[in-house]
Amino acid sequence: MARTLLCEPVVLFRREDGGAVALEDRCCHRALPLSMGKVIGDRLQCGYHGLEFNPAGECVKIPGQDMIPPDAKVKSYPLVERWKWLWIWMGDPALADDRLIPNWWWFDHPEWELVKGKYLKLGCNYQLITDNLLDLSHLAYVHLNTLGTTDISEFPIKTDREKDMVRMTRWIIDRPAPPMFQTLGNFEGTVDRWQIVETFSPCLTQIRAGACDAGSCNPDLGEPGEGMHIRSLNAPTPETETSTYYFFGHARDFAMGNKEVSDDLFRMVSQTFDEDVVILEAQQKMLTDWPENGLIDINLDAPGIAVRRMLARDIEAEQV
Ligand code: FES
Ligand SMILES: [Fe+2]
Repeated sequence: MARTLLCEPVVLFRREDGGAVALEDRCCHRALPLSMGKVIGDRLQCGYHGLEFNPAGECVKIPGQDMIPPDAKVKSYPLVERWKWLWIWMGDPALADDRLIPNWWWFDHPEWELVKGKYLKLGCNYQLITDNLLDLSHLAYVHLNTLGTTDISEFPIKTDREKDMVRMTRWIIDRPAPPMFQTLGNFEGTVDRWQIVETFSPCLTQIRAGACDAGSCNPDLGEPGEGMHIRSLNAPTPETETSTYYFFGHARDFAMGNKEVSDDLFRMVSQTFDEDVVILEAQQKMLTDWPENGLIDINLDAPGIAVRRMLARDIEAEQV
């Protein structure tokens, strides 16, 4: 499978034991994309002159020749499969550290039901996706027909900054449950509802959302154990400066094993994200066409601005 990631051509394949491998998708002989070749056992064979590369990216066979030149190799990227996702490290392999992968255990735990995800390819910079996820007030405008309830923006947000994470918290107190929560949660009256959005540097966002009977928990203590809980995990992966693969998935701790609920959730989330695509691509077009024209900030932008600061700090640290 071929993917351009961070402007670099990458080819992904699986070894015989199922382990995933990521190599540079450009043969070091005459530059044919290796993704046009064939997987043979644990090796990838180029589709032009048959050079074979092992998972470390080393050429291990040249048909008709015994001597393999020492620089016959392509880049091999550190890759880890965890929480049902693949995590690639595009930087210096010596600096790869799998502890930087967020702890998204909900995708692989018997008490949580995984709702399948998908990916979208968006014509926008990845940071616009982070902005969008940290600012759920847009539900009232962009997603009026799906998730939106107009009362969201009445409730203030709180921004917390930690070293490598920014958190946006909003509680919507004593309001009717949105339709999906109402159907599945069997609430008798109004609910207290939370949205806790956490972005880890550089751009991995987990959303914890849920609802409980109004007055049954203390918002000051953070997300309560009571009620129903959803996790929305988001991994925008830059293709280029202005295009992004947006991978996402959901997990929930209610209606376990209920396929209909999973299908409904998937359909609703997909429809919602399709609405975001229209907005994000239109924004990117304007930002590209009119780069000098300024932008103003409003209160809602605080978490997004905090993430951009965190990102700028980390990008600068990488330059040395
Ligand atoms: S271009 Fe790959 S083997 Fe020649
Ligand atoms: Fe949205």
